Amino acid sequence: MKRHFTQVAVIGAGTMGAAIAAHVANAGIPVLLLDKVPDALTPAEEARGLTLESPAVRNRIVQEGFERARQRTPPAFMSPEAERLVTLGNIADDLGKIAQADWIIEAIVEQLEPKRTLMAQIEAVRRPDSIVTSNTSGLPIASLAAGRSDDFRRHFFGTHFFNPPRYMRLLEVTPTADSDRELVQAVAHFAETMLGKKVVFCKDTPNFIGNRLQSISGAFVLDYAFTHGYTIAEVDALTGPLIGRPRTAVFRLYDLVGIDVAAQVARNLYDLIPDDEYRHLLRSPAREKVINGLLERGWLGNKSGQGFYKRSRDAEGKRVFLVLNPETFDYETPEKPHFEAVEAVQGIPDLGQRLTALFDPRWQQDRGARFVWAIISFQLTYAAARAQEIAYDLKSIDDAIRWGFNHQLGPFELWDRLGVAPTVKRMEAEGLPVAPWVQEMLEAGYTSFYRVENGQKTGYYDWESKSYRDLTPPPRHLSIAPLRTAGKVVQQNESASIYDLDDGVLLLEFHSRLNTIDAPMLQMMRHARSLLEKEGYVGLVIGNEGEHFCAGANILAVATAAQQKRFAEIEEAITALQDLLMAFRYSPKPVVVAVHNRALGGGAEIVMHASRVVAHAESYIGLVETGVGLVPAGGGVKELVRRLISPAMQVQETDPLPLAQRVLETIGQAKVGRSAAESRSLGFLGPQDRIVMQRDHLLFAAKREVLNLVEEDYVPPPPARLYAGGRDLYAALKVGIWLMQQAGYLSEHDALIGEKLAYIIAGGDLSAPQWTDERYFLDLERQAFLDLVGTEKTQARLWHMLQTGEP
Ligand code: NAI
Repeated sequence: MKRHFTQVAVIGAGTMGAAIAAHVANAGIPVLLLDKVPDALTPAEEARGLTLESPAVRNRIVQEGFERARQRTPPAFMSPEAERLVTLGNIADDLGKIAQADWIIEAIVEQLEPKRTLMAQIEAVRRPDSIVTSNTSGLPIASLAAGRSDDFRRHFFGTHFFNPPRYMRLLEVTPTADSDRELVQAVAHFAETMLGKKVVFCKDTPNFIGNRLQSISGAFVLDYAFTHGYTIAEVDALTGPLIGRPRTAVFRLYDLVGIDVAAQVARNLYDLIPDDEYRHLLRSPAREKVINGLLERGWLGNKSGQGFYKRSRDAEGKRVFLVLNPETFDYETPEKPHFEAVEAVQGIPDLGQRLTALFDPRWQQDRGARFVWAIISFQLTYAAARAQEIAYDLKSIDDAIRWGFNHQLGPFELWDRLGVAPTVKRMEAEGLPVAPWVQEMLEAGYTSFYRVENGQKTGYYDWESKSYRDLTPPPRHLSIAPLRTAGKVVQQNESASIYDLDDGVLLLEFHSRLNTIDAPMLQMMRHARSLLEKEGYVGLVIGNEGEHFCAGANILAVATAAQQKRFAEIEEAITALQDLLMAFRYSPKPVVVAVHNRALGGGAEIVMHASRVVAHAESYIGLVETGVGLVPAGGGVKELVRRLISPAMQVQETDPLPLAQRVLETIGQAKVGRSAAESRSLGFLGPQDRIVMQRDHLLFAAKREVLNLVEEDYVPPPPARLYAGGRDLYAALKVGIWLMQQAGYLSEHDALIGEKLAYIIAGGDLSAPQWTDERYFLDLERQAFLDLVGTEKTQARLWHMLQTGEP
């Protein structure tokens, strides 16, 4: 059933509620955000003569929650427009307004009674067809709606967002026995398409899937580490990227989440799971000694400035990062952990192979290998032990761990990679019980949790039917790996590949390191463009599944060529990129760029030369060349002149200076949009470009965009006319740069870069304003780039970037 969500209400404007409201608004949907009325005045309110009846006081709590969401880093809101979609109120005066809402999300304190009371209040005013969900992270969902009407209970279930809701992909959806399945599906569909979430359905058990498994597995890690004398630095070295998990590893994550919050979760969970054979880990004396020690001292993690780690300054004022000694509670300089086994396997890129090598019998005496085996074997057996109780299928467990905690592989995926039968043998030999259904699976001849064909997962073991169940690809999902196995590669080299997406649509995928633009990539781009000349092909998608869409030009190549004074070669490469991007822009067949994450420098220029862009909402686009002492030379400046200055100059007597200054600032300060919406307001996306919330839908949406354009008889844009302000505009921009330099904001070389940039933006030093073509601006870009790359200071900046990764 398709339902329309035109208004959402969120109750509770704390860490989660305000940020959930922000994210709903990011999807373009108006949100009502409510919180409590304060029961006492602040001294400041008293001083201003306000009373508990003053509107400002009544909305104080919600206002503060909203402000905190506005100030959050990373940002909770994607744009100022989204902020304006949130209306604030309090439950005493404004609860009636939730009758307008199609979906009401409860996100108040994690306590049963207040939540139940609120549900009764909601029931009194809600519209009968509206959906009500709770964001509780641990309370039984059914108990929250106990005592409510049948209709309420049919419209009620759990929607557990992960923090921060804008960025964490997992949404756990927990229906009760009474929940209407169609409504549950409607919210799941909305969350996937409009909020960009990945939904996992859970059984109504304490802490659902993700937090249940992670709480107990996490407690095991602490218990094992502190009983066996591993240091904090050692544990973090062993529990990060080495085992396919984020760099925050174990203890940095504790500091991030807050030690008090983690302790509270453990306490709540303990009482809720009397039958869990591992719940004692939540009260392990070794773990409690350290956690309570921190709590007593108020060392709660990042929010109190120290926890397992502490940032400080040494005697000379240099920043230092200290680590807790859990025995003495002193902070010490961390020693670099050293494990022979880890050093031996570290270089193996594939996670499964790396861990298999680490678990080889020859490393059984190595402290590092022993630790990793202990925590992984526990994680796997615990997931198997709980699986049937908390999840509908094993895939949900893997999904929850991957999407909720950013692990590279979920427990069953990892188990497959280690080999199920041999690991089970070792677990049993060590006295670690393995769930009966896993034994049963092996005995029935199923050697892995997933069925993999041609490198693709095509099924998973279903413990109900005791056989593999087909995995059907989700709708609107187009991914690249299956194209390879299906023999859809048209052409490829080390940096890029071209695929046939059927229906006449081609896909150009970048896959160089960080997807930087190099000679082989340009070659493949040229090839894709020439394939478009052929009959049978109707359009091209440029997109990929790398971490970033494209980090810009390969600056190692630029720096090396500049150092060896091969300037003609650099000039040739710039011309090639310019010609190619112009050929895309004027291609008679549509070229749609599917952008995600970072598109910087040359990457942004590729985006700006598309017929259309389909951007993931989390796209960070910017021209960052000045950071390495250069200016854009692939048409980036030209595009901002075309988009931001030229249209306005069609209107008589417009002053070009403020517009030109805006372009100068955007490029000069290397501004990067912090969302697709912000990238659009900077000028990197146009009004016709689309923003897609679900990352997994991006390539599919881009292909569909090509076909739509074909359907509408796409014609390329007419040749653009660009406004060149000339000498006066250039002089005016230079004054601004000079003032900045005098005020000490710009070094001499910064000022030089600024002037070169101003020269392009102004369209050179024409004696009077003129309308020119794009080539004119491209020539100015190329010349400025060549002038700068020849300077010693720009070369130094290039090498600095290469050595440090920082501008
Ligand atoms: P919080 O303490 O930051 O915010 C709770 C807000 O609810 C406060 O602003 C409070 O004034 C308000 N409130 C309390 N009683 C109210 C009532 N009767 N009516 C209206 N407002 C009321 O809590 P947080 O962290 O935002 O958690 C909210 C819910 O989300 C809890 O159920 C929690 O378990 C869950 N959750 C929390 C996560 C986190 O990382 N903080 C993650 C996922 C879920």
